[in-house]
Amino acid sequence: MSLLDAAREVREMAYVPYSRFKVGAAVRGASGAIYRGCNVENVAYPEGTCAEAGAIAAMVAAGETELIEVAVIADSPSPVPPCGGCRQKLAEFGRHDTPVLLATTEGGTLATTVGELLPGRFDAGHMARAE
Ligand code: THU
Repeated sequence: MSLLDAAREVREMAYVPYSRFKVGAAVRGASGAIYRGCNVENVAYPEGTCAEAGAIAAMVAAGETELIEVAVIADSPSPVPPCGGCRQKLAEFGRHDTPVLLATTEGGTLATTVGELLPGRFDAGHMARAE
């Protein structure tokens, strides 16, 4: 199964009673394994979590800390862009050139990279002087 198909499949599981906006994400770990996540909302709105966060959590829970490919899909007019927080989360485990495929349920796609999504990101190097 392709990474995008995995994201499409898990999207159906999204818990979205508030936004009605289902998102599916899948990441491929360095081992080749696929991890999936969907958005999970909460009546206390800020407590909701994004699909990307769920997929990353599944990857880390399985013992992997490097992702080599990402796919995200939603029913949106143009390929769904990860939110700012998810860009930082992807950057934690991906590299600058790690491919990210953004997609619509209608078949639209946009190929980008973790680095393109978050130029100038905060990383451990910025804490070099911290003790
Ligand atoms: N959402 C994601 O899960 N990923 C994205 O990349 C964009 C937004 C979710 C959060 C919330 O449940 C819903 O979409 C509307 O913002």
